[in-house]
Amino acid sequence: MTDANAMWGGRFAAGPDAIMTAINASIGFDRRLHAQDIAGSRAHAAMLAACGIIPDSDAAAIREGLLTVLSEIEAGRFPFRDDLEDIHMNVEARLAELIGAPARRLHTARSRNDQVATDFRLWVRDQCDTATEGLRALQRALLAQAEAGADWVMPGFTHLQVAQPVTWGHHMLAYVEMFARDAGRLADARARMNECPLGAAALAGTSFPIDRAMTAAALGFDRPMANSLDAVSSRDFALEFLSAAAICATHLSRLAEEIVIWCSAQFRFVRLPDRWTTGSSIMPQKRNPDAAELLRAKTGRVLGAAVALFTVMKGLPLAYSKDMQEDKEQVFDAADTLMLALAAMTGMVAGLAPDRARLEAAAAAGFSTATDLADWLVRRLGLPFREAHHVTGRIVAAAEAAGCDLPGLPLGAMQAIHPAITAEVFGVLGVQNSVASRTSPGGTAPARVREEVARWKAVLG
Ligand code: ARG
Repeated sequence: MTDANAMWGGRFAAGPDAIMTAINASIGFDRRLHAQDIAGSRAHAAMLAACGIIPDSDAAAIREGLLTVLSEIEAGRFPFRDDLEDIHMNVEARLAELIGAPARRLHTARSRNDQVATDFRLWVRDQCDTATEGLRALQRALLAQAEAGADWVMPGFTHLQVAQPVTWGHHMLAYVEMFARDAGRLADARARMNECPLGAAALAGTSFPIDRAMTAAALGFDRPMANSLDAVSSRDFALEFLSAAAICATHLSRLAEEIVIWCSAQFRFVRLPDRWTTGSSIMPQKRNPDAAELLRAKTGRVLGAAVALFTVMKGLPLAYSKDMQEDKEQVFDAADTLMLALAAMTGMVAGLAPDRARLEAAAAAGFSTATDLADWLVRRLGLPFREAHHVTGRIVAAAEAAGCDLPGLPLGAMQAIHPAITAEVFGVLGVQNSVASRTSPGGTAPARVREEVARWKAVLG
């Protein structure tokens, strides 16, 4: 080929500047779309033949040639070329080398604009599925913790100050719920993105009698996209994936932070196994929760990818602009980061060894059953809650002054604050009683936690 460019040389007298090639080429990263690109081309060629647009013999040659290209790429033997810009032109040029003339009919009724939109949708769709599997695995690990510790008492916090006793199982199930919503967001995004851009061609559709339903079905899409301009210029499917990924990463970072806190010498609520900690090169006693810290940090990376692509897309006129080539690296990096983060969190959660005695002792500290006392004053003495709150506050102050916890305060000291209090009150001041009493739907009582564990086991299998 003597043209300045093998794909569009007809109009050009000179080839591109080296720096033009450098800024323009996406092959360095979009080679990750090779399987999707080849699947899209196979579906397109089969449709062209079925519609009588290209000969069956050409479609057969294209199909065989594309399989050879796929095997070359998978074997690491494919001669990727920067001057061919992207995966679409690399594949097509290699196909022409392999099968000659029929390859030159493949791009009939197609443009790289609908091609890349299709490839990328297929790729992001796969990521939704992979992330969903990762979330399920993490939920199962959390569920196993919840089942083992359905009645283990630990402090519940607000403002990271001891608030009320809760159960370990309840705390684990809170994350099961959060990750279920993350999976739900991915499922929603997947359902919306599962329409096929192929056949939109450059932007306006095509004059060839194509069958868009056929290519859509061959690629597992629910239907063709309805509007050709929208089909080539929309990346909201990627934005939705990144948004869902950023929310999920945010949830992971919260659990990661709790693990970091729980592992600290001051808390010692849990122990991470050796294989999920690292040592220090100078301080021999250290067991650092590096993976949890990195999970906390990687949220910035995933959210950063979302912000970057929102910024790329904002203000772009219809239809395709080359700006949109900047969509891929962000999504690739965010997806890789999310999958690694999910796997690391699953491993850590599975290996977490809670210190049950320590959790329970911590649950009793900080007057954590003060609300139980106030509730008892309401229930048994008929006090309005605000008055009960005040009386309880004075009892807590008395206990604090006496240097004891609430169950340790003598009845006489309580009666000095409210004479109607009886010894029955001691029945509600223990942390076990406290959690057992919280039987409202969604509450922390072990009975409720066991019901939720059973429900989630049925869901997760
Ligand atoms: N590499 C391009 C991208 O990622 C493919 C589409 C190019 N289309 C074009 N008209 N230059 O967006």
